[in-house]
Parts: sequence; structure tokens; C-alpha cells
Amino acid sequence: MSVNYLNDVRAEDRTLRELFAIDPSRAQRYVAQLADLRIDWSRQPVTDEVLGSLRSAARTAGVCQRFQALAGGQALNVTEGRAALHMALRAERDATFEVDGRNVMAEVHAELTRMGEFAETVRANPEFTDIVNIGIGGSDLGPAMAAEALVGDALPRLRAHFVSNIDASDITSVLDKVQPKSTLFVIVSKTFGTLETLTNAQLARQWVIDALGESAVKDHFVAVSTAAERVEEFGISTDTTFGFWDWVGGRYSLWSAVGLSVMLLVGPERFAELLAGGRDVDAHMMETLVDDDRLDDNVAVTLALIGLLHRSVLNRPSKAVIPYVHELRRFPAYLQQLDMESNGKSVTSAGMPVTGPTGPVIWGEAGTNSQHAFFQLLHQGTDVIPVDLIGVARPRHNLVTQHDALFANLVAQAQALAFGRASHEEPHRNFDGNRPSTLILAEQLDARILGQLIALYEHIVFIQGVMWGINSFDQWGVELGKELASALTPALSDAGNDIDGDADSATVATVQWYRAHKAR
Ligand code: F6P
Repeated sequence: MSVNYLNDVRAEDRTLRELFAIDPSRAQRYVAQLADLRIDWSRQPVTDEVLGSLRSAARTAGVCQRFQALAGGQALNVTEGRAALHMALRAERDATFEVDGRNVMAEVHAELTRMGEFAETVRANPEFTDIVNIGIGGSDLGPAMAAEALVGDALPRLRAHFVSNIDASDITSVLDKVQPKSTLFVIVSKTFGTLETLTNAQLARQWVIDALGESAVKDHFVAVSTAAERVEEFGISTDTTFGFWDWVGGRYSLWSAVGLSVMLLVGPERFAELLAGGRDVDAHMMETLVDDDRLDDNVAVTLALIGLLHRSVLNRPSKAVIPYVHELRRFPAYLQQLDMESNGKSVTSAGMPVTGPTGPVIWGEAGTNSQHAFFQLLHQGTDVIPVDLIGVARPRHNLVTQHDALFANLVAQAQALAFGRASHEEPHRNFDGNRPSTLILAEQLDARILGQLIALYEHIVFIQGVMWGINSFDQWGVELGKELASALTPALSDAGNDIDGDADSATVATVQWYRAHKAR
């Protein structure tokens, strides 16, 4: 049986309205500046006492020691026998990050230099107008999110497209918009064995060959992978293959060559700023998690513990993330993989059943759109759903009045959620309030601040995984579905192929329905 480190944590009985009445200074005290991020947890149901007990649980769980083990390249991903050293990807060249006693920094920077040289060549070649990134999961969500977030920094000539789905409508809709001679395909797959990516890559390859001939493949395809041999078999030369390492998890890989499409779009300098942003947050982690004494100052720990309070003490199963920055509209989707693939686990690292709930459902949508879709439930639904609200003081555009209105909405939602408004005569107009939110604000959204934001969430997810005793770096839960789908595919494509005799009756019936209706 694993230990539940949060057993002794008692939730706060008083409402947020009461807590602010007793101590208005919480608006200053429960705010921290982490690099360029202003993080405000004053509207969370915590007091010094609650935070004290959460932090002592973190000490008992050995958060500092586990962080040191992570940074030290220990194989924390026990089921795959791998380190999770994504911090090395954004570290300075003269830093030390070791895997199996070997400093990896020279390799990391050698690959960054190769990427940079390649990116400059493509950016200087006016024949290329479109980049098509083909990848899925971590090989798609990070780059797609970052390309959207940094679109204001993109070379005006270049457009980026992201193809991930096995649904051919995804790739065909992109191919309809681009021309073979002006398109560069970036095939991103850590394993180079992912069905969706290989299927789409083959289709794109044939599309290029049909238009330009076989010899054009070398000029229009590059790959990003840890599996160089498979890439070569596919027909992409090692000269245009960018590598990374098995100690980089897919959902932690944006900082590596997996970010190549982003680098092509915004250039190596901006990409370096993204890495610098990640490094800013890592520096805070290193400084404050050297030992237990400074743990109270660690902002990622505080936010992780507040998340644990909701999930493990108050049993709140979901969390919404709402960016009031249009360019961050893919951020919730990105976070879904980061958080749910990392912490959606029910066995501990030691292989024992967990003793309580683990990762919450993460969901969200940009800015005021979400208010007109699901905030009704956030304000008056029967579940309390903690919310992260992300905003900036200065948008990329200069329509200040409109931005004032946007920011007013962010603050108003935090206010309404926390403090509500009583209506005794008309119950349907009653807002109980006492609904928690964390505000993450920055002066603007740029590459460095985006890097800080991503790294902050990465560390929160890690700390929560430590407190739950789970391995945040594997993803076995996605395997069964893949296996069953590939076993079923022959029966769907050809009625002559019988479905596995052991298949359940529901599966058989669905396959039969498909077969009966698929013919046009
Ligand atoms: O199926 C889940 C997953 O393994 C993710 O963890 C990963 O990011 C994604 O598939 C893509 O994998 P690959 O980069 O190897 O194609």
C-alpha cells in the first residue's frame, strides 16, 4: 500500500469572502513573481496554516529529493528505465546534466546548432512558403501550440500547418492549401513507428513524388526522431534528420528538435528565447529545491499543492485552464497531454494501487469564448471546478480599448467566481461564489514568457506526480487501444477477414454495422 501524504491536510472551512474579510493582505501575500510571471493564488481556499500543512506533506514526500533525482538524470521513469531530463534541453552549453554519468550538454547544443543552420537556410530560401509538421501527441501539440502562440514573430512568408490525425480529412485539407514545390514537410516522431504519423507521411511523400518526382523527396522532407534507422528506411537522409534522446518524453519534447517547425517559423533566436524562458523557471526550481529549507519559496510547489488540495483533499475531479490571450488558444489542448498523460495513473511507481485520486481532467478554451460556452457551470453548477486564468497586460496588437475589455473580463470572472452575489428573492440569480481561481499574468506574451509558462506547468505536473507516488513519465494507458485497433483494421477493410473469434459481441456488432454501411 502506498502512503497518502495528504492524509493530515485539513481543508479550510471559511469561504473566500470570509478569508478576504479577515485578511485583505492575502491579495499581496499570496502573490509571487516567478521570472516574468505574476502568479496570484489569493483566491484559492488556503491560509498560512493550510499551506503549512501542504508544504510539510511535500517535505515528507521528499519533493526536494525527487527533484534533485530528476535533475540528476536518475531513471525516474522506472517502467521504461529512462531519465526525464527535459531540463537539459533548455540548459546553457556549459551546464552539467548527466545521464548514466555522461554530460549530455554537448550533444544537446550540437543538435540545436544543426537545427539553427538548417532553419536559417530554409528561412532564406524564398521558394519555401509552407511548413507542414506531421506528428501526433507530443510531436504535434507542443509545436502546434507554440507556433500559434508566437505567430506574431513568424517570418511573414512562412505559414505553418500541423497534421496529426489518422483521419485523412486532416492531411487532405492541408494539401489542398499548399503547393508541392513550396512546401517543406517536417515528419516528427520520437519512435518513427506511430501509425498516424507514418500513414500521413507516406501520403505526403506520394503527393510530392506525383507532382515533382522521386528526386524531390530529399528537398521537401526532413525528420525529427530518436530512431535514425527507421527514418532512413522511410527515405529521409541522416543529413536532414534531427535527433533527440530517449530521456526526452514526447510531451516534454518541444524544447528539442521536436520544436523544429517553431524554429523554422520564428527563427533560431526566438527559439533560443523560448529555451531561456524554460531555463528561468528551472533556475527557480534549482535555487529553491536544493533542500527543504527553501521549499516554501517555490512557486511551482505552491501551485502543485493547491492542485493537490483540490484533487486529493476536496475530491474535485477537474480543472479548467482559460487563457485570455487568443494566441494561447491551443494551450489547454497542449496541457491536456502534459498533465493527463503524465498523471492519469492508478498504480504507483512501485506497481501498487494508488490510495486516492490522481490527475484531474484538464480542459479549457480561450478567453471570453469560454464564458459564453461553459462558465454557466463554473459559476452555478453543482461541482466546484478550480480555474487557472492566464492573461497579459499588453497584447501584440495595439487595440488597447478592446484589450481593456478582455482583461476586464478576466478580472471579473475571478471576482465573480470567488465572491459571487447573493440573490435571496431569485434563486436562479444567486451566485454562491467561493469558487477558486489562480491568475497567471505577464506583461506580454513573447517566446521567453511562453517558455516560462510551459516549464512552470511541467514542474507542477512533476511535483504532483511525486506526491501521488506515480511515474509521470510513462504512458502505458494509450497502448491497449492502439493494439486493438491494429487487430481490428483487417476485419474492417475486407469482409473476407474474420474478426477475432474471442471478440466481445458489442465489438462484433459494431464491426458488422461498419462493413454493412461502408460501401458507397
Ligand atoms: O500514443 C501516445 C504517444 O506515445 C505520446 O506519448 C507521444 O507523444 C505520441 O504518442 C507520439 O509518439 P511519437 O513521437 O513516437 O510518434
